[in-house]
Amino acid sequence: MATENTAASDAMARPDRNQAENVQPLFGEREIAARVEAIAASIAADFADPFLIVIALKGAFVFAADLVRALSRHGRHPEISFLRLSSYADSTRSSGDVRVVGDAPQDLTGQRVLILDDILDTGRTLQRARTILAGAGAAEVRLCVLLDKPARREVDVTADYVGFSIDDVFVVGYGLDYAERFRTLPYIGALAAKAKTEPD
Ligand code: IMP
Ligand code: MG
Repeated sequence: MATENTAASDAMARPDRNQAENVQPLFGEREIAARVEAIAASIAADFADPFLIVIALKGAFVFAADLVRALSRHGRHPEISFLRLSSYADSTRSSGDVRVVGDAPQDLTGQRVLILDDILDTGRTLQRARTILAGAGAAEVRLCVLLDKPARREVDVTADYVGFSIDDVFVVGYGLDYAERFRTLPYIGALAAKAKTEPD
């Protein structure tokens, strides 16, 4: 049958790269927004301007975009910087070998620094990030994560600000990926085990 809107029908015929049907929702948009607002209030109570927020890429980009605007509503206007660390090679297992991708941070002598990341899992990424920023001269380094999986910890790292503490499930959405998929989902959900074994 002929169709008038070829582009739309093509898009519907194409398999959804995100396969959102394999994602079991855990935290919805309003629940996340409420936690982000509460975290911003806690940070604003502890940090006066000036301070520096270092956003861990890529996973924290959605969380960070919402959190810095919530901080602005709370009267805090931190400087923003980025740090890209890599430990995952398209899998759900951390390699344990965490590397800086791209530029190392500039001189941070005397600065109060807050690192934002999507999730604290084994702790290796944030332990490395903390060491790098302290090594760049930061006077204080605190950690803020949207999600925490304490059962998975392999090194001694504790976040100062946590959105949600969760069990040992692999989560995606709101910036978090599985092999670069699902980052754009506006909610956070658990990825079904079968979705990890299916080819793209
Ligand atoms: P860690 O070094 O093991 O703490 O891992 C931290 C990084 O692993 C996070 O910044 C994420 O990129 C990734 N990660 C760990 N757990 C998950 C998950 O459940 N979903 C998506 N990414 C995860
Ligand atoms: Mg990731």
